[in-house]
Amino acid sequence: MSAAATLDRIAREVSVCTKCALHESRKKAVTGEGPADAEIMFIGEGPGFHENEQGRPFVGAAGRFLDQLLQQAGLTRSNVFIANVVKCRPPANRDPQPDELTACREYLDDQIEAINPSIIVTLGRISMGRYFPGAKITSVHGQMQNIEGRFIIPMYHPAAALHQPALRPSIMADFAKLPDQLNEARAALGRPVVETKKNSAVQKTETPQQLSLF
Ligand code: URA
Ligand code: SF4
Repeated sequence: MSAAATLDRIAREVSVCTKCALHESRKKAVTGEGPADAEIMFIGEGPGFHENEQGRPFVGAAGRFLDQLLQQAGLTRSNVFIANVVKCRPPANRDPQPDELTACREYLDDQIEAINPSIIVTLGRISMGRYFPGAKITSVHGQMQNIEGRFIIPMYHPAAALHQPALRPSIMADFAKLPDQLNEARAALGRPVVETKKNSAVQKTETPQQLSLF
């Protein structure tokens, strides 16, 4: 089955899934979005209010910040895949529970296998826990690691950086490193290395006041 067909299959299954209690309050499931051959995959936590309304990932305030961070790394939504560890909104935006993460895990596993990205960026503590159980995000964020053949970079969640302005320079600096890390991963995977917009990304990081958040 082609990657695109696999992603379609997952989206169909998720839209009617009842494997955990989160389906009870679901308005729209948020399977994830992006091209089937994306080189970078972002994994967030779970849908919030707006995502549950629209069925699309990161469409609220955190999403607008994510768009700016992507731009800073020379990326747009059209060349990355964005998914979450749970596809249905946890009530009142509480953390997904372990049994919910387990129930939903196979969908994300299948998405990762189908897309086979060069890099996976986990956003926030919960999504980081998939690859770095027990790690402290304050000490590992921004560092790319090879976990069982996949290149994973844990990063702060954009919503955390919105609520805690002290984290903003860190998340911006981590995104600015992405183009170089992507080439590092490409080289290690034997994939073509592409000239990146490194200079513009670096310049933008050095002038964070240029980023208007709202
Ligand atoms: N926060 C997330 O973790 N995921 C979304 O899709 C939106 C906000
Ligand atoms: Fe199914 Fe995942 Fe939604 Fe739970 S969160 S109902 S496992 S799609």
